[in-house]
Amino acid sequence: MADAPLVLGIETSCDETGIGLVRGHTLLANTIASSMDEHARFGGVVPEVASRAHLEAMTPTVDAALAAAGVKLSDVDAVAVTAGPGLAGALLVGVAAAKSYALGLGVPLYGVNHLAAHVAVDQLEHGPLPKPCIALLVSGGHSSLLLVPDVAEDVISLGSTVDDAAGEAFDKVARVLGLPFPGGPYIDKAARDGSGTAVAFPRGKIDDGTLDFSFSGLKTAVARWVEAREAGGERIHVPDVAASFQEAVVDVLTRKALQACRQYDVHDLLIGGGVAANSRLRALAQERCDAAGVRLRVPRPGLCTDNGAMVAALGSDLVAAGVAPSALDIPADSSLPITTVHV
Ligand code: KG4
Ligand code: ZN
Repeated sequence: MADAPLVLGIETSCDETGIGLVRGHTLLANTIASSMDEHARFGGVVPEVASRAHLEAMTPTVDAALAAAGVKLSDVDAVAVTAGPGLAGALLVGVAAAKSYALGLGVPLYGVNHLAAHVAVDQLEHGPLPKPCIALLVSGGHSSLLLVPDVAEDVISLGSTVDDAAGEAFDKVARVLGLPFPGGPYIDKAARDGSGTAVAFPRGKIDDGTLDFSFSGLKTAVARWVEAREAGGERIHVPDVAASFQEAVVDVLTRKALQACRQYDVHDLLIGGGVAANSRLRALAQERCDAAGVRLRVPRPGLCTDNGAMVAALGSDLVAAGVAPSALDIPADSSLPITTVHV
């Protein structure tokens, strides 16, 4: 794909300033500046802090990505940017930067959907996506099941969380257990020394026939369970609670994902988003996909969490599909619907 256009991808929907460089489905650079350390003491991402950090990180991160790829800014053939959904102020910084680069370089601009980009990124690791596939996207900001006939054109929402996102539940339960923020990786680690069947935590909406999720009841159940033990002077075994909570989340996620595959007669499942880094989710998803004859694709953790390569990957698909570029006055849309793959 040496002749494919060089696409610069810019991602600023949350706390990561992600810059990616992609040619076709070849990843050339994926550079990230995170403001997570500035948010950790608040126990969650502070939008104003994130926006300011994006502004400061933007040009140095673009320069670092260009250096990593061994290309010049003037080599860039198209600019893609997350237009939404995400934090409004944070998105605005990325969109303004993308417009400036596109205008300055005289190259087309593509405003893309963050969720569709989470799906498109897998092609950088595993090649073209089967059409259609089912995608389970699980992160701190979203938990969605999607039917993806064609990631550059058509993405259909099958279900989503009715309350907390899966990663949000990990982060909140970690707090209850005295683990640092963001809690997902710490719960994952603690759970390796515990038993997933130690405590029977509830599985929200498990048999309700929908493809929606609910994690807020589970989060509350863990908090009540811990409070009750601590009030009685008991010491809780953190690894058992972590493993049992994690099992409840991944049991529901994988069951609903495979239910979607069955319902739509689709044999390829993709899992993306920060929670896709979870070791138990990966293992149980593989086990259940094998049993159901479904092929599983999960990008490596660095491509699962928010990054610029995913935006460049989707931009590259749009260029290849001959999609018309975005206007230079596109807005940042914090609640961009998943059905809008590009703006
Ligand atoms: O995709 P991401 O980087 O950002 C967005 O939220 O969009 O996802 C971050 C989320 C956090 O909630 C974090 O706790 C969770 O992904 N996470 C994990 C793991 N690694 C990250 N959750 C469970 N297990 C993990 N290993
Ligand atoms: Zn994300």
